Amino acid sequence: MVAVADVFAPARLGPVELRNRVIKAATFEGMTPHALVTDDLIAYHLRPARGGVGMTTVAYCAVSPEGRTDRHQIWMRPEAVPGLRRLTGAVHAEGAAVCAQIGHAGPVANAASTRLPALAPTRRPSPLSMRMIKAASASDLQRITHAHAQAAVTAREAGFDAVELHFGHNYLVSSFLSPRLNKRTDEFGGSLANRARVARAIASAVRDAVGGQLAITAKLNMDDGVPGGFWLDESIQVAQWLEADGSVDALELTAGSSLLNPMYLFTGDAPIREFAAVFPQPLRAGIQLAGGRFLRFTFVALARALLREPDLIRRMQADPAVRSLCIHCNKCLPTIYRGTHCVLAAPGET
Ligand SMILES: Cc1cc2nc3c(=O)[nH]c(=O)nc-3n(C[C@H](O)[C@H](O)[C@H](O)COP(=O)(O)O)c2cc1C
Repeated sequence: MVAVADVFAPARLGPVELRNRVIKAATFEGMTPHALVTDDLIAYHLRPARGGVGMTTVAYCAVSPEGRTDRHQIWMRPEAVPGLRRLTGAVHAEGAAVCAQIGHAGPVANAASTRLPALAPTRRPSPLSMRMIKAASASDLQRITHAHAQAAVTAREAGFDAVELHFGHNYLVSSFLSPRLNKRTDEFGGSLANRARVARAIASAVRDAVGGQLAITAKLNMDDGVPGGFWLDESIQVAQWLEADGSVDALELTAGSSLLNPMYLFTGDAPIREFAAVFPQPLRAGIQLAGGRFLRFTFVALARALLREPDLIRRMQADPAVRSLCIHCNKCLPTIYRGTHCVLAAPGET
């Protein structure tokens, strides 16, 4: 536990010196219509940077085109670099560091949107695309491991200070960790050591590719929030292996499954009506009917509170009595499809 005063003191994260310990957690922005950086995306990250955070996190930069949840998300490729450079330069000019969340969405990818097959440890139907998700082959896994390393190199070239590996929410790596989603009988399934093989290989490949030039963190599930899922006992072991491998500088702990239980990590109510409104039929009717059932360490990562008030950190530094105005209504969640924002903040405020 860090004393409150230390939260605002400079701190080292791997090779990076942060001006304080507060990190804006990844909140998918919905501001990359051609899978490229826009001025809106830059403005979005300038707000918490000006508001005093130590580092802001750009969500979610896929390592390959089929690793996006939808086709409008950035995937790390040379074409994306000039825009990403503009973004990192603008954030640095405000005194904050900037991290790219990189990963592969695996079974959470919507193949109907990406127009490429989604991948999972084991073949299964997708509730998102209504298509079958393909079982990843050993060569798919090799390609995706290499793509993570390449994405980290691209992030470095684009001026990022850190990469965060997405090992949560039943995205690809997390789906391999999950005993519920991973029913393989090869070297990637069965024992925890086998299920953790993809996570460890990716983290090590990223470390080998960028060495100490970038901070490397991983966002790791503690609990999938579904029966038979990945849970704390196994998560602690995976965290220990990652630490022993020397591949990551820190872990951001998370929970839940974007596939099977997306609301598990959020305090507060499920915004079912608002989610239904942004989806076309027949998905809309399905969410209205079944939504109620479906949506049920020393650094401080904040997401919703900084959507509500991007300047929260500066205000807290000036006055420790300041409290967040975020009420965890979760109505920011459905806004990720059209430009992520807090619905309670005045226009232009977030
Ligand atoms: C609108 C919204 C979008 C999010 N998008 C992502 C994302 O792209 N990647 C991710 O790892 N987490 C995502 N999250 C989860 C947050 O990073 C964070 O883990 C979660 O909101 C809990 O932190 P909080 O209580 O400070 O809000 C999102 C959260 C919100 C509210």
